[in-house]
Amino acid sequence: MSKLQKSLIAVFGICALFFGFIIMRVVAKPNDMSVKKVEISHENYAHLGKAAYKDAYPLEYNSFMKNNMLDPSPTGYGGSFPENSYIKAQPEILENFKGYKFSIQYDVARGHTYTGVDQLNSKRIPGQMGNCIVCKGSWMYDKWYKESGWEFASKPFAEATPPFTNQNTVEGTDLYFGCSTCHDPETMELRVYQQGFVESMAMRGVDISNASHNDMRSYVCGQCHNEYYFMGEDKRVRHPFIGGWEPEEQYEFYQSGKAGAFTYDWLHPDSKTPMLKAQHPDFEIWKTSVHADAGVTCVDCHMPYMRENGKKYTSHWMTSPLKHIEDGCMKCHDESKEVLIARVKTIHDNNNKLQRIAGQTCAKAHLAIQAAEAAGATPEQLAPLRLKMREAAWYWDWIAAENGNGFHNPDKCMRISGKSIDLAHQVIEEANALSKGSGAI
Ligand code: HEC
Ligand code: HEC
Ligand code: HEC
Ligand code: HEC
Repeated sequence: MSKLQKSLIAVFGICALFFGFIIMRVVAKPNDMSVKKVEISHENYAHLGKAAYKDAYPLEYNSFMKNNMLDPSPTGYGGSFPENSYIKAQPEILENFKGYKFSIQYDVARGHTYTGVDQLNSKRIPGQMGNCIVCKGSWMYDKWYKESGWEFASKPFAEATPPFTNQNTVEGTDLYFGCSTCHDPETMELRVYQQGFVESMAMRGVDISNASHNDMRSYVCGQCHNEYYFMGEDKRVRHPFIGGWEPEEQYEFYQSGKAGAFTYDWLHPDSKTPMLKAQHPDFEIWKTSVHADAGVTCVDCHMPYMRENGKKYTSHWMTSPLKHIEDGCMKCHDESKEVLIARVKTIHDNNNKLQRIAGQTCAKAHLAIQAAEAAGATPEQLAPLRLKMREAAWYWDWIAAENGNGFHNPDKCMRISGKSIDLAHQVIEEANALSKGSGAI
């Protein structure tokens, strides 16, 4: 063989290796595990639950059942234990949510298997409507929506809720948060069932039915872990992310009348401010993060690949990724376990400090407006203060309500808490000036 021939063979060899590797990574990835399709019983809607999938998909089912575990996080934030109360940990909530149900009971989220137990036993449920079941599993879609669209949303809660045999046990509430929450029960393909999310994304020009596989790995979580409101017109669920992923854009969405008949969640009894309640904008916070920019989805961290007896599968224990840090974070990051956990804890500490200052300043601002009114300030004088109060509290709540304690997007969270503190201080200064009777700022 000539030198040229040898070189050519070497070059071809390297090319074959290189493209072979690319094909392995791109074509065979990300899921080289063939999913066997198994007929799941439809008896008593078992296909909308979990138990009926046990024998067909034991690895996924057993890992899903780990959501029953009640463990704290190594960072000391979040965690999965019951009665982990935000109100106890942050008493300023009592003033900030005064006159609203979140001042009665407000607990940190725990595992998905408890969704039914925790909703059915919530002190906030009396008086609520059918729309509360929208983010508790696919019953809203596979049962009600297919029958009669959004009609269920304005019915009393008890009429819309999925059937249960015991409201205090995971087994008794099997039809809450079933496998069909993220999988089409006929094909086991990933799907988004939550029609409010589908409609709101369509209003952003995104057709969920054409989503890429990687986008589905955040949409299946984002369909519930986001900020929403109930439309005044027919009580269906809708999302202010139609206006943008930033809380400033979402505030503008509400202010501009784009939310239709919905204008506020409750009237604060002290400051008489028409308030907005933010709920867990986890999807929006992640969406503009360093990880999202790098294509890293909720599933990469919260549902990493695992191996059992040589079989590869996706972990369905959707909890703090630090509980299985080797399988998620450490597949991409070189730092040690200790360094990574310490990094997350530092982010939480900083975020928590600013978030609490924002909450405490907002609580004082409500009282300052109340004092100004008692001192004789007129509704016209107080109107601009109440507007600022509404915005300050919105930013605080956006950060207080997100579940990642700042980790998902640390710099964004800092900015928003900072804005809340600034606005709340402006309210206090202006209210104090009115109280003193000068009216001058
Ligand atoms: C880069 C990895 C990563 C990505 C991507 C990610 N998370 Fe997280 N998530 C974390 C970490 C780390 C925590 C904090 C855990 C702790 O302190 O124990 C967390 C916390 C949470 C919590 C609170 C858990 C608890 O114990 O209270 C929820 C809920 C959550 N994430 C949902 C999501 C959703 C939904 C998405 C996608 C929209 C997402 N996460 C994307 C890493 C990630
Ligand atoms: C909260 C969403 C969610 C729920 C609920 C859920 N899954 Fe999954 N499942 C996923 C995601 C995400 C994947 C990864 C799919 C991918 O990237 O292709 C997955 C993958 C799978 C796969 C493919 C093989 C594998 O391990 O990757 C099977 C089988 C499966 N799930 C079974 C189940 C069963 C059984 C249940 C109920 C006990 C269930 N899933 C509940 C999100 C979910
Ligand atoms: C059907 C709506 C819904 C979907 C879809 C959903 N979640 Fe949740 N998630 C919830 C609710 C509700 C809770 C709180 C349950 C409770 O406290 O009883 C929760 C709790 C959690 C927690 C806290 C668990 C713990 O151990 O502290 C994490 C983490 C989480 N979800 C991540 C995810 C991820 C990741 C996905 C996508 C793979 C996802 N969720 C999909 C509604 C949803
Ligand atoms: C699929 C790969 C992947 C996984 C899994 C992953 N990361 Fe990352 N992470 C990245 C990439 C890529 C970046 C951006 C790096 C850069 O731009 O320099 C990043 C950035 C970070 C940063 C810097 C963030 C910032 O705002 O600048 C931290 C901290 C971090 N990751 C921690 C974690 C932790 C903790 C986990 C597990 C909960 C985790 N990551 C899981 C890929 C990953």
